[in-house]
Amino acid sequence: MVVLGIETTCDETAAAVVMRPENGRGKILSNVVLSQVGEHARFGGVVPEIAARAHVESLDHVIAKAMAAAKQTFRTIDGVAAAAGPGLIGGVIVGLTTAKAIALVSGKPLIAVNHLEAHALTARLTDDVQFPYCLFLASGGHTQILAVRGVGHYFRLGTTVDDAIGEAFDKTAKLLGLGYPGGPQVEKEAVHGNKTRFALPRPMLGKPNADFSLSGLKTALRIEAEKIAPISDADVRDLCASFQQAVVDVVSDRLRNGLKMFRERFGLPTALVAAGGVAANEALRQALNRIAFEAGTMLVVPPAELCTDNGAMIAWAGAERLALGLTDTLETAPLARWPLSEVKSRYVPPAAVKKPS
Ligand code: KG4
Ligand code: ZN
Repeated sequence: MVVLGIETTCDETAAAVVMRPENGRGKILSNVVLSQVGEHARFGGVVPEIAARAHVESLDHVIAKAMAAAKQTFRTIDGVAAAAGPGLIGGVIVGLTTAKAIALVSGKPLIAVNHLEAHALTARLTDDVQFPYCLFLASGGHTQILAVRGVGHYFRLGTTVDDAIGEAFDKTAKLLGLGYPGGPQVEKEAVHGNKTRFALPRPMLGKPNADFSLSGLKTALRIEAEKIAPISDADVRDLCASFQQAVVDVVSDRLRNGLKMFRERFGLPTALVAAGGVAANEALRQALNRIAFEAGTMLVVPPAELCTDNGAMIAWAGAERLALGLTDTLETAPLARWPLSEVKSRYVPPAAVKKPS
């Protein structure tokens, strides 16, 4: 089964062609990502109107490139998938409308994919991870701990009550005068910094649920920076290291709880899967590895280019849904907000798992 996937929910214009065999991992035939980072950098974040216009201007070309690289035509593919949300609505409209046009002229089925579902299923494309597994999704827009039980069958164990983790990294970078996106810059500075110099809070630490709160951490960092202003290069390194350590501590604590909640409800996960741009952070990866090991499972992190937004994850999620006969009509609406709990499924969950003793 060969599917074209289109991603336009944020600041990447992406298209890819993926093949899904009956069993085992998938094969990426092409994966074209055109990042708009340069167009948003001077604003320190994504500007929705600029993003939508950039998608309109480049999507046709990106799709043509992906199709050519995969040596496919609209006749040879089995379906066309597009991210139908959640995301910046202007961009979502561009991607979904284009997919509908292709579906209409080629007579191939349309699959309207939830962007979060695509992140959730990527580990099956890259590593053939079996259900059920625990997903830690951390990007500029999302922070979630999910139980992935089957295609279309997700249970949210935890989320953020305010900022996303990537957003906290970006805001920290902006505050300290570092570039955008901030995560990689903060990580680079943190390498040579003193992570114990500033006593930053660990919001939510010790709370029995698996939820996050990041906005207080960012405010505390601003106060510390103001106290010692003007800040030197060494101060920036120490602030970054202290901030990153606070995030690592919070994520470790929240994930421990999330995995405990997972076990109580669904038994042992086959893996802890990390996705989203923040999963590129090395200090965080080391912590995730430890936590997965402690919980009796293993860590799976897809390659960085598939952890961040891309077309291959949309194509793969489309193929997984198509294989189950889950296609969509041309009336399907683009959605700015679309929680995973509202994703359609034909999966029947197994009877409740007994609590481990
Ligand atoms: O998944 P992604 O590429 O795009 C979406 O937000 O959907 O994630 C981008 C986010 C940004 O907030 C960026 O600062 C963060 O991921 N990020 C990192 C690192 N690399 C990217 N955060 C911490 N450490 C990194 N090395
Ligand atoms: Zn994403």
